[in-house]
Amino acid sequence: MKNQEKRTIVVMGASRGIGHASAKLLTEQGFNIISISRSPSDVGISMQFDLYRQKDREKCITYLQREYSNGIYGILYCLGSYLYDEENIEEVEHLWQTNVVYLHTFITGLKNLLEKGAFPFNMEPNRYKTTLKKTSSIVAVASIDSIKGGANGRNPLYAAAKGAQVSYLRRISVSLSPIIRVNWIHAGFVMTSFTKDHILYYTNRDFKDQIDNKTLLNRAGAPTDIAALCSFLLDHEKSGWITGSGIVIDGGASVR
Ligand SMILES: NC(=O)c1ccc[n+]([C@@H]2O[C@H](COP(=O)([O-])OP(=O)(O)OC[C@H]3O[C@@H](n4cnc5c(N)ncnc54)[C@H](OP(=O)(O)O)[C@@H]3O)[C@@H](O)[C@H]2O)c1
Repeated sequence: MKNQEKRTIVVMGASRGIGHASAKLLTEQGFNIISISRSPSDVGISMQFDLYRQKDREKCITYLQREYSNGIYGILYCLGSYLYDEENIEEVEHLWQTNVVYLHTFITGLKNLLEKGAFPFNMEPNRYKTTLKKTSSIVAVASIDSIKGGANGRNPLYAAAKGAQVSYLRRISVSLSPIIRVNWIHAGFVMTSFTKDHILYYTNRDFKDQIDNKTLLNRAGAPTDIAALCSFLLDHEKSGWITGSGIVIDGGASVR
């Protein structure tokens, strides 16, 4: 059994992008990180599984159940999910599976560990009583696309899959309460390899201006911007009274 003294967080999709930046920040904050991805991650304990494959999803859950039987404190779900061709039915199905079905598989497969790994903290004494509460946490990176129309109406199926992810998370935040908190992040345009436009952003001045001007802060998001919010929502010392909530982080783009 691995060291249980530090709070353990499993990051799905931790080799790059938002997951990697979050895993790095959480490690600096003293969490024990298990990084899951196909390629190795340089953060925490790196486990290589191809989560698009059923066998690997099963192996991943079995591994976590065996090695972390004392419990885990959190799950951060940042698994890459692409849709480049809306005409391609396999890609469309894949999008639904990565955003909803696999997320459900991990949550049901690891629920017992999240319950066991919930961390207690003393609430401020009040005039009625001092209550010892404990929670663990699930955070998923959803998208701003699920709550806004989008100026050009692009990517409706991606928006629908992210919307389904949010509906799913909202429901399970109820069924998993009060011990497991469930929150999600409506991220705007973040420069990672996920967005096929990221190279253009760095090489084409007009394209960069176009993206930057969509926000109120005149810049695209960095993975570290989202990581700060992920770590906040995972840590119940900071966000222990937040559950069933989606937080928008998009540089102000959605109020333009
Ligand atoms: N970037 C944005 O603008 C943006 C905006 C809103 C929401 N989001 C959401 O944020 C999440 C993360 O996006 P990101 O931008 O950080 O993506 P990213 O940079 O492409 O990173 C995706 C991560 O998922 C891992 N991954 C992909 N396929 C995998 C597989 N089959 N098995 C295991 N791991 C796999 C990748 O590692 P390996 O390739 O090594 O396996 C990588 O660590 C996605 O759900 C995305 O929809 C992103």
